[in-house]
Amino acid sequence: MIRRDILLGSMLTICTIFPVSLPCHAQTVIPAPKEMVVGEGYFDVSPETRIDYNDNSLTTTAELFNDYLDGRFGFTLKKGTKGKNTIRLRIDKSMPQEAYSLIINSKGVAITGNEAGIFYGIQTLQQLLKAENEENIHLPYITINDEPRFSYRGLMLDVARYFYPVEYVKKFIDLMARYKINRFHWHLTEDAGWRIEIKKYPELTTIGAWRNSTQWERNGEDQDRVPHGGFYTQEQIREIVRYAANRYVTIVPEIDLPGHTMAALAAYPELSCSGGPFQVPETWGIKEDVLCLGNDDTYRFVEDVLTEVIDLFPGEYIHIGGDEAPKKRWKACPKCQQRIKENNLKDEHGLQSYFIHHLDEFVTKKGRKIIGWDEILEGGLSPNATVMSWRGEDGGIAAASQQHDVIMSPNIYLYLDYYQSDNRNSEPLGALWAPTVTLEKTYSYEPYTPKLTKEQCNYIIGIQGNVWGEFIHHPDKVSYMAYPRAMAMAETAWSPAKKKNYADFCKRLASCLADLDRQGITFRIPEPIGWNQAVVDGNLAIIDLKPSVEGAAIYYTTDGSNPRLYGKLYTDTLRVPLSFSGVNVKCYLRLPSGRSSAIYTVTARNSE
Ligand code: ACM
Ligand code: ZN
Repeated sequence: MIRRDILLGSMLTICTIFPVSLPCHAQTVIPAPKEMVVGEGYFDVSPETRIDYNDNSLTTTAELFNDYLDGRFGFTLKKGTKGKNTIRLRIDKSMPQEAYSLIINSKGVAITGNEAGIFYGIQTLQQLLKAENEENIHLPYITINDEPRFSYRGLMLDVARYFYPVEYVKKFIDLMARYKINRFHWHLTEDAGWRIEIKKYPELTTIGAWRNSTQWERNGEDQDRVPHGGFYTQEQIREIVRYAANRYVTIVPEIDLPGHTMAALAAYPELSCSGGPFQVPETWGIKEDVLCLGNDDTYRFVEDVLTEVIDLFPGEYIHIGGDEAPKKRWKACPKCQQRIKENNLKDEHGLQSYFIHHLDEFVTKKGRKIIGWDEILEGGLSPNATVMSWRGEDGGIAAASQQHDVIMSPNIYLYLDYYQSDNRNSEPLGALWAPTVTLEKTYSYEPYTPKLTKEQCNYIIGIQGNVWGEFIHHPDKVSYMAYPRAMAMAETAWSPAKKKNYADFCKRLASCLADLDRQGITFRIPEPIGWNQAVVDGNLAIIDLKPSVEGAAIYYTTDGSNPRLYGKLYTDTLRVPLSFSGVNVKCYLRLPSGRSSAIYTVTARNSE
């Protein structure tokens, strides 16, 4: 503690106090570190620089850093020391698990922490690297002491509506890790497809992983009539678990029960109330056929499936779904009604709760914990359940009030399949039924709602963004929907609440997005910085724009014409005469990679 204070006090420029106007060269780190002090001077990184570590547990982290350097600059660092031209990684067991300190000064670079902390220090280091040209790559002198606000920082990917290949799942995890997101919630089963091999029930994947056609068009009725499917073998899953672990990402597998199980019922119709037959559905939406909870075979089935899942995934949490299970079939099913009667359950909500209690007991006996969507509150919460609050925050508030752990994932802030702009015609198809979730809206999320006491807030272990797949039929579109909003989520999950500042985030984002662009990773190109801040001065609109991606060019028109055809290169503040109806400046960004944004409109109106 004392050591850190001395170091902080001795540095020149204090960035922690005024996050809006950082007078430093390090506006590049997302999520914002807890404490950061920038000095004057640079450490040059070259093929002569060495990387030194005293513990074999750091080998993979060092190799991943070299992979990054190789991809970006075309060289790697040899292991060893070379005086002050050395990056030193040092384990310090006394530090909290994910904390790290990063010091760059005239003595070299030092990253200290536990294994996960050092990995995060390296992620920060990567974001600090600047290249003036190919020969001149440097890091600013800096002292960072950093640790996360929340232990659970999650991103969910729905691979069940559409199947994404192993290579993409790895890429998704890789990107998460860069922004210090540490839980990959893998939504593996759905009505529309069962994506995990279960040895005891092979037809889950020989039948349940495939469908004949998919609901496709904007109007929701049309079908593409193209067969679709796929699943992950257990061998592939083990490989992905290892890949994630190397990046300090723990996988939270979800087997969605007892609803969203049509793919399983297509394979094993005897587990339904009616007996089927069923097909893997070709349309989205909530299906009335769900697992029969009056049938003993259902309980055997879920236990067998969860046993294999628990074997495959070493993390503490198993997500059992629990969302959107209609009660209609249970109402009409003699077996379900019998189960309700025998167990003195109040109604079908009680039956669902009875089932979740059963899963909880089973998973707890195996030394793990269940997470369920907030519907598991209905009919009574089971004793060891963690609640994932998605229908707003009410479920999370109720669970925290009952002293249960909570992961906040309110859809109106953190559903990353929702449209990113109200200008829907210029966006790719998103969740048609849902409100828009802009980057700023995601960023504005604060999980410590005033509706919770300070003591209850302690039950909020983290937050999560969710990428549902109904309208995301291609991996590039997953990235487009997830980024940059996942980075906003990551900052809320990691950085101290008092360090958050949207304008500052956007500046740092510009640097991070340039890095993604260099690597050919798709993301939504945000509106230029300043696009909604036109100022009216007399009869002029003053419009000051900055690219939302570093190095991007902005092209604009002021006469309403299409900037892709007629745009002028933006170089300086615009002063546009206001017509009677105001001004509409149209613009778009062109990135160094050649990718272009949608067309954005900057408006200013006469004040009277
Ligand atoms: C959900 O969005 N059905 C959890
Ligand atoms: Zn039944």
